[in-house]
Amino acid sequence: MIPLQLRIAGFLSYHEPAELDFTSFDLACISGQNGAGKSSLLDAITWALFGQARKRDDSLVNLQSKAAEVSLTFQYEGNTYRVQRTLPRGKTTILEFQIRDSESWRPLSERTTRETQARIEQTLRLDYETFVNASFFLQGKADQFTQQTASKRKDVLGSILGLEVWEVYKQRTADKRRSLEEEVGSIDGRIAEIDEELAEEEPRKKRLKELEAELKQLNATRQTQENALENLRKIAASLDQQLAAEKAKLEEERRGLKEQEKEASNQSSMISDLELRFESAKKSLAEAEKKITGRGELEESRSAAREQYAELKAENELLKAQMDELKERMDQLESAEGATCPLCGQPLSAQHRKSTLKQLQVEGKEKGDRFRINKSSMDDLAKQIAEYESKLSKIGSAESERLTHSNSVTQLMERIETINNSIKSWETVGAKRLKEIETILASEKYATEIQKPSVSLDEAERDLNRLREQENQKREEVVFARQKVSVLDERRIRKAEFVVQREELSRAISQHRTLERAFGKDGVPALLIEQALPQIETKANDLLDRLSNGQMSIRFVTQAEYKDKKRDDLKETLDIQISDGAGLRDYEMYSGGEAFRVNFAIRLALSEVLAQRKGARLQTLVIDEGFGSQDVQGRQRLIEAINLVKKDFAKILVITHLEELKDAFPTRIEIEKIQTGSTIRVA
Ligand SMILES: Nc1ncnc2c1ncn2[C@@H]1O[C@H](COP(=O)(O)OP(=O)(O)O)[C@@H](O)[C@H]1O
Ligand SMILES: [Mg+2]
Repeated sequence: MIPLQLRIAGFLSYHEPAELDFTSFDLACISGQNGAGKSSLLDAITWALFGQARKRDDSLVNLQSKAAEVSLTFQYEGNTYRVQRTLPRGKTTILEFQIRDSESWRPLSERTTRETQARIEQTLRLDYETFVNASFFLQGKADQFTQQTASKRKDVLGSILGLEVWEVYKQRTADKRRSLEEEVGSIDGRIAEIDEELAEEEPRKKRLKELEAELKQLNATRQTQENALENLRKIAASLDQQLAAEKAKLEEERRGLKEQEKEASNQSSMISDLELRFESAKKSLAEAEKKITGRGELEESRSAAREQYAELKAENELLKAQMDELKERMDQLESAEGATCPLCGQPLSAQHRKSTLKQLQVEGKEKGDRFRINKSSMDDLAKQIAEYESKLSKIGSAESERLTHSNSVTQLMERIETINNSIKSWETVGAKRLKEIETILASEKYATEIQKPSVSLDEAERDLNRLREQENQKREEVVFARQKVSVLDERRIRKAEFVVQREELSRAISQHRTLERAFGKDGVPALLIEQALPQIETKANDLLDRLSNGQMSIRFVTQAEYKDKKRDDLKETLDIQISDGAGLRDYEMYSGGEAFRVNFAIRLALSEVLAQRKGARLQTLVIDEGFGSQDVQGRQRLIEAINLVKKDFAKILVITHLEELKDAFPTRIEIEKIQTGSTIRVA
């Protein structure tokens, strides 16, 4: 980095805009009183480039200004760049980065200040610390390295060389290594899991065999059950047929019974009529019979009348005969002349005659009366008999009537009985049966006598389904078990992969461990220091040779014996041994002035080595107040020394408040603080 132009306003002691053109000189002395604003210029450069100076906040803004503004134009590796940084008080930084493109400025600024900052540092290949350590001999910090105790020097050197970064590398490597170890841990876990699983190979295979056997068994059972079910279905089908036939039979029977029922109801409706007819027939029969019963009486009466008549007739015939006899007797008596009665043989007196005649007459009259009475009775009887006869002839037709009626009574009775019987039989048998059949048909429980199989179709189907389910489940189990066996091959492959992976990881871990060791204090940083030290030593001696007229030289001692003589290992240290004409002594034994030259030489050597290491070209050297501790001769030597290294740098700025040094360098830049702030004047 070679500064070309610095513009500064409102920054630290600079209120009014001030400008410093570097192009007109290679070596200049910046002079001015304490507090004039000399160091502020360096702050302006680092602040412009890195946003970092003695502070990095608002306190950098000049007390009388609203904003700090620094613009630095510089050259780096053939290009011209410009950085403009503005910090308005209380606000955020505005940063512009540009590159000179023939006549104009091309922006290199990024979206954010942070990104632009990163870009600047990338371009310079330096950060603030390295830049300051390499280029600046800062006030009060010039002997930072040499002033340290021997044991701490290595740390300081490391820090100057920017070796802290290795600690970061080490940390990152350790993090990475730990994550790798975690991976190994998890892989070990996985391998252990796999091993555990692989140990189960035999049991798993055994289990698979068992399951396969069980599946086979289930399969056979299921097939048997299927056959059984098939049989049952056939039986069920024929059973259905039987039931259908039975049903048809019942329905047929029902049809018959229904007809019977109808018949019975017809008959019951007929029966009252028949009963009426029966009653009337019975009545007619009774009437006919009554008629016939009168005839017997009539016949008896008639025969009685006939008998009486015959008796009367016979009596009257007798009476007639008797009356004829009486008449004859009377005639005999009347005609009798003799003295003896002809009738009784007694003397015939007139008297006797008369009395006997009289007697005969009474007797005749009696008989005649009787005869006449009989005769009249006979007439009555004849009349009666005729009457009976006529009546009896009338009764003769009642016989046939009786027969007819008797027949119809019998017939009707028989019919009624038949009907009643059939109704009764319907009621006692048919209706009952019909009801029974209706119930059977309604409940569809016909043919209870049919032998049903002991296992129902449903049950058999359920059994089969259950078996199928069991079989399926078993099959799944077999598949699962087989998978669990076959998966072991995958596991073996996986394990092999894991083992390979683990080996790779272990290798990586050991590599990382190696790296960690390498990045550790005793590793690369130590090596770098070891490597840097001879370079620094050579360069420092080169310079010291010139500064001391070949009188002084230094030597770095990195290891020393412990005071404890029993220890045969060596102590890590960084002693600086200086030899001059008088011999070899430690740095600490030299005077301030002598030490300063050593400091200067070492510090300059460090700067060069550091810049080399970063790949950055160190082209500017700034020595801020390096002369304070030097006597006149020492100052003279330092001036010579600076002139001696002049050719190594593009720009050298020597800052001092000492008046007598002002003219020791080709160009003089005077800084003066007036009321309005610091001012720059190139003399
Ligand atoms: N924000 C500020 N505003 C004004 N002056 C400041 C500010 N900060 C520091 N100063 C002053 O700027 C002056 C210049 O300091 P510096 O450049 O270190 O002096 P020197 O020339 O001795 O190197 C000092 O007197 C310091 O007090
Ligand atoms: Mg100063």
